[in-house]
Amino acid sequence: MKKRVSVASILGCTLLLSCTQTTDKSDIDLRVEKLLSQMTLEEKIGQMNQISFWGNSEELAPQVKAGNIGSLLNVADATIANAFQKIAVEESRLGIPLLIGRDVIHGFKTIFPIPLGQAATFNPELVKECAQIAALEASATGINWTFAPMLDISRDARWGRIAESFGECPYLTGVMGVAMVNGFQGDNLSNKTSIAACPKHFVGYGAAEAGKDYNSTNIPPLLMRNLYLPPFEDAINAGAATIMSAFNDNDGIPMTANKELLTNVLRKEWKFDGIIVSDWTSTTEMIMHGFAKDDKEVAEKSVNAGVNIEMMGMSYITHLKELINEGKVKINTIDDAVRNILRLKFRLGLFENPYVDEDQQNVFYKEENLKIAHKAAEESIILLKNNNNTLPLSKNLNSLAIIGPMADAPHEQLGTWIFDGEKSKTITPLNAIKNKYDETMQIFYEKGLEFSRDRDKSQFWRAVQAAQSADATILFIGEESILTGEAHSLADINLKGAQKDLVRELKKVSKKLIIVVMAGRPLTISDELEAADALLYSFHLGTMGGTAIADLLFGETVPSGKLPVTFPKEVGQIPIYYNHNNTGRPADNTETHIYDIPLEAEQTSLGMTSFHLDAGLKPLFPFGFGLSYTTFEYDFIKLNKHEVTDNETLIVTFTLTNTGDFDATEVVQLYTRQLVGSIVRPVKELKAFQRIFLKSGESQKVTFSLPIQELAFFGIDGQRKVEHGSFKVWVGGDSNAKLGEEFMVVR
Ligand code: GLC
Repeated sequence: MKKRVSVASILGCTLLLSCTQTTDKSDIDLRVEKLLSQMTLEEKIGQMNQISFWGNSEELAPQVKAGNIGSLLNVADATIANAFQKIAVEESRLGIPLLIGRDVIHGFKTIFPIPLGQAATFNPELVKECAQIAALEASATGINWTFAPMLDISRDARWGRIAESFGECPYLTGVMGVAMVNGFQGDNLSNKTSIAACPKHFVGYGAAEAGKDYNSTNIPPLLMRNLYLPPFEDAINAGAATIMSAFNDNDGIPMTANKELLTNVLRKEWKFDGIIVSDWTSTTEMIMHGFAKDDKEVAEKSVNAGVNIEMMGMSYITHLKELINEGKVKINTIDDAVRNILRLKFRLGLFENPYVDEDQQNVFYKEENLKIAHKAAEESIILLKNNNNTLPLSKNLNSLAIIGPMADAPHEQLGTWIFDGEKSKTITPLNAIKNKYDETMQIFYEKGLEFSRDRDKSQFWRAVQAAQSADATILFIGEESILTGEAHSLADINLKGAQKDLVRELKKVSKKLIIVVMAGRPLTISDELEAADALLYSFHLGTMGGTAIADLLFGETVPSGKLPVTFPKEVGQIPIYYNHNNTGRPADNTETHIYDIPLEAEQTSLGMTSFHLDAGLKPLFPFGFGLSYTTFEYDFIKLNKHEVTDNETLIVTFTLTNTGDFDATEVVQLYTRQLVGSIVRPVKELKAFQRIFLKSGESQKVTFSLPIQELAFFGIDGQRKVEHGSFKVWVGGDSNAKLGEEFMVVR
């Protein structure tokens, strides 16, 4: 029984997709078998070999002609793509077209917020639109496969790749992953603007010890089932065409050789019939892991575990024939792999339409798509503080100081994993604010620091002078994009360089200090939060970030973003996340802080519970948190019944009221907790959310429908089911939701 099907069906076209494929499936499978029967062993192995292009056409062309390469990555030019396809289709013996992959992670030319920012929108329809635009632009250059969405659950802001994730929540990650898959793949993979999605990195890569990229993970089976696997299952249920295996070794087994997960779970249990591709040399890295003695053993272990295409490892093309001859790899294994590859090529329509129209440059940066990029940026920004309604700023200010290394940083603003986006198209906050308000207010702009790591304070005086002269100061700080993403983990997530000093100096002289952070992860910003009158947090916003920020700052729009990941007070609190277990000694608010401890305090006087003496127990901000310029009230929660069976649906209603002065959108969230289970259960689990727009003073009755099957999990017996007993359900604007009711699940 597939769970979480409601996640996929929320976004509609899954049914259509599976119907389309079901019809095509019988036809395509016949064509696959026919072609497979004509292939030599060498040609089959060639389909399993993926090589990156970096201008080396002369080297790759003969390989493509010989049928030794089945897919390329990093071709992002229509003419080059057509040239390679022409060789494959018109010069190779069987004319099998190529898959052409690229990391189109958060946009191709038009760049959207990094996925962590897109998650903060809690708007899957918008995320789907962003992916559709990315596919439209990428497919115009011959790309037919993207290595996205990244579905790694991450509870560790030290990990650079949290930027590419949708954060710490399996439900939110699943919803956003399905949205991206549907956006990339459209309602039919053979549409010329559809590209194959590739949920990655299967699986558990985000649990790298110490947040250090590529590091080992130690995820036990039940946590793997209940936290890390569900988003991938959602994506498979939504029709994801491919999956990428991860770099990490989990409990001593490299994921790229983990047959239990790659074959028994993905293939046998989830009936996945798409391609499993390795990560870049994640096959041959088994030698470095100490899991294979040489490339030949790499090839044997990877292909037998279930990896169909080897990205850049070259062990398949070199050793599979020999391994077949030695009986260490069965020809059925090769045939099954090639079936998956050919099936996708047929589904993509590549045999009918291998070439791309070479003059589609006009699809890039279309006005209507830039508007979507603006909307995504705007909805991804989170208001974390707004003392005395500092924001929105009056448009009648006489003067404004714009300061900081991120105020006009077009490259940094695009974020990590940008190969094809162009910084020349970035609208920065400085651009946007000057374009709009230069005529009506005096704008002083000073960087103060050249870049986020800059430790040279020699220009501080200019920034201080600007702040002194202005009615308000907006300080843009954060992190350069190179400090985020793959292989870019941090041990300390405080602001780098002299940014903290700059905040301190500006605090002394600013009439109003508004801080805007632009980063690729949660940073430890307690001091900056203290100093700011108002603080907006953004995850590298992409091309249109500047106009989005400007509109929010001056009240053209109202912040609606919510945190997709918990913000720690101290890096030492990590891992810290909302869906934690209660422990046998849960802390409460009575813990003594380290500087309040009396001298020679009695051993047990500080509260014998689970907290840090120097950081307490709470994060700086909880998952799901985000303020607005208005306020919202949650009242009158009601359940359709207080006893439900496990095939029924719990209907939760409540009244939401906009009790403030601005028309605004609230992301209302529904959380549950199983009070007693066959294994301990998280204290909160997000199970649904909605974006609700209310005018100032308006109230609305909101309804959540929660199929009780959504409470199923893998219990002590290793089976997935709903357990009977007491549950709580809450609704609220973040994971500290208080308005709740109890209910029972009964037989
Ligand atoms: C990288 C990344 C992966 C990416 C692949 C191709 O190492 O781990 O996410 O898709 O290689 O660029």
